[in-house]
Amino acid sequence: MAIERTLSIIKPDATRRSLTGKINARFEEAGLRFVAQKRIRLTKEQAEQFYSVHAERSFFGELVAFMISGPVVVQVLEGENAVARNREIMGATNPANAAPGTIRADFAESVEANSVHGSDSAENAAIEIAYFFAGTELVG
Ligand code: TYD
Repeated sequence: MAIERTLSIIKPDATRRSLTGKINARFEEAGLRFVAQKRIRLTKEQAEQFYSVHAERSFFGELVAFMISGPVVVQVLEGENAVARNREIMGATNPANAAPGTIRADFAESVEANSVHGSDSAENAAIEIAYFFAGTELVG
């Protein structure tokens, strides 16, 4: 299986409840290693650009407002099949549909405040990683 990298974001609902350590432990227990991590506040422009694929959706304005409502932790995870593995341990977008034991099932507050983001393909992972990190910040 291929060693991949994926972009993960711990969202404001989770940083507000001091869940960063608990969530990071799940990534490490699943065999994903951190190659970069930083705590930042997204600007409105950054959040709009990051989620621009959803710009026409009814929830877009609220999603952007939520993403800038507090600090986030952006991180790059590396491991075998990292994109799919991360999505597996995150669980479904809506926590009501997320499998037991997944991060969203255990921690998410709602479909919007769902605690974590994870890239949905290797191609998007490369774009999203480059959006937040310089190559020199990735330390494998
Ligand atoms: P999406 O890319 O569909 O899900 P995922 O984060 O699992 O890849 O949606 C991006 C984010 O948009 C999602 O994490 C939360 C938000 N969102 C809503 O607020 N309401 C919705 O109805 C949907 C589908 C998503």
